[in-house]
Amino acid sequence: MFRTKIAGIGMYVPPRVVTNNDLLKYMDTSDEWIQERTGIKERRYAHRTEETTATMGVEAAKIAIERAGITPQDIDFIIFATLSPDYYFPGCGVLLQRAMKMKEIGALDVRNQCSGFVYALSVADQFIKTGMYKNILVVGAEKHSFGLDFSTRGRNVSVIFGDGAGAVVLQPTDPSTGSGSGILSTHLHSDGESAEILAMYNPGTHANHWMPEKYADFDEAEIGQMFFSHAMIDKAQVFPNMDGPAVFKKAIVKFPEVIMEALAANGLQTTDLRLLIPHQANLRIAQFVQQKLKLSDEQVYNNIQQYGNTTAASVPIALCEAWEQGKVKDGDLVCLAAFGSGFTWASALLRW
Ligand code: ACO
Repeated sequence: MFRTKIAGIGMYVPPRVVTNNDLLKYMDTSDEWIQERTGIKERRYAHRTEETTATMGVEAAKIAIERAGITPQDIDFIIFATLSPDYYFPGCGVLLQRAMKMKEIGALDVRNQCSGFVYALSVADQFIKTGMYKNILVVGAEKHSFGLDFSTRGRNVSVIFGDGAGAVVLQPTDPSTGSGSGILSTHLHSDGESAEILAMYNPGTHANHWMPEKYADFDEAEIGQMFFSHAMIDKAQVFPNMDGPAVFKKAIVKFPEVIMEALAANGLQTTDLRLLIPHQANLRIAQFVQQKLKLSDEQVYNNIQQYGNTTAASVPIALCEAWEQGKVKDGDLVCLAAFGSGFTWASALLRW
C-alpha cells in the first residue's frame, strides 16, 4: 500500500483588493462590525469577465504542477471542489482539463462547500493508496463575488466571502522506504438535519417546497418556467442563505471533534501538532477552536483577514501561504480541518 504525499502546492488570488470600507457603497455595514464579528479586513474579487472559478483553479494548478516537477500531461486524474462552478453543469474539472490541455483523464467535481477541499483530498488519497493513479490534481476554487446579495438584505453573508483558488498535486510514496511523509488519515462527516441553514436553494428541483405558491396543478411546461423565476429573485432565493449563529454553534463543536479524531486515530496529541490549518470560515471560530484545544498562536494559521472566506479554496490557500512563509517544514505534523454547509465536516492529518 502506498502513502499519498503532497508533491506540489499552488495558490492564486485575484489582484483586486476589496476592503470593508469599499462595501459601504452597496450596503449598510461598517469596517468595525465586519472586523469584530469575522476578523476580515479585506478580500479579493475576481475580474468580472476575464476570470472564473475554473480559470483561477488553472492558475493555482499551474504553480502546483510546476512545483511538483511535472507537466499538465502527467496528471492522471482531476478532482475539483467548488460551490461556485462556472456552469450549473458540466463541472469545473472538465473546464480545467480543457484549458490545461491535459490528456483524456477522469475529472471529478466535489460539491461539499467549505469541506470540499478536504473531502477531495480524501478521495484522491484513496486512489493514490490503491495504486490507481500517480499524479492527481486536487483543486479548490471559488468565485463568490458573482453570486452574492450586495444589498443590506444580504450583508450578513456577502461581507464574509472572497474569491481565490488553491491546488495540490498528489503522488504516491512508499512508507517503508520514504521519510514517513504524506497523508496519515482523513476523516469525513455529515449531518443533513440542518441542510437549509447554510444553503443556496436555487436553481434546484425543490421549487414547490420553497415557494409559497402551489405547483400541484401546473403541467410540466409551466413548472419548467419555475426553475428560474422573478419571484426567486424578488425573494432573494438566488443568493446564499445563512443562519450565522446556528452555523457558529455547530462549527465550534465539530471543528475540535474532527481534529481530535484525526490525532487519536494516529496516536498523537495536540502538542505534536506543528500547524493547524482550519477552513477560514470566520476568525472567531478559529480562535474558539484554538482556545478549546489549547493551541499556541504559532500552531494555528489564519489568513481570513486578507482573503475573507474562500470556501473550498481556503484550506489550500492557507496551506500554500504557510508553506511559502516557511511555517511548514519537512517532518512537521499538519492538520487540515473544515466545517461547512450540509453540514459537512472533515479533517486530514499529514506529515509534511
Ligand atoms: N454589517 C452590519 N450589521 C450586520 C451585518 C453586517 N455585515 N450583518 C448582520 N448585521 C446585523 C444584523 O442585521 C443584526 O441586526 P439586528 O440585531 O438589528 O437584527 C445584527 O447584526 C446581529 O446579527 P446576527 O446575524 O445575530 O449577527 P452575529 O453576531 O451572529 O454575527 C455572523 C453574524 C458574523 C455571521 C456570526 O453569526 C458568525 O460568525 N456565524 C458563523 C457563520 C460563519 O462563519 N459563516 C461563514 C460561512 S459558513 C462556513 O464557512 C462554515
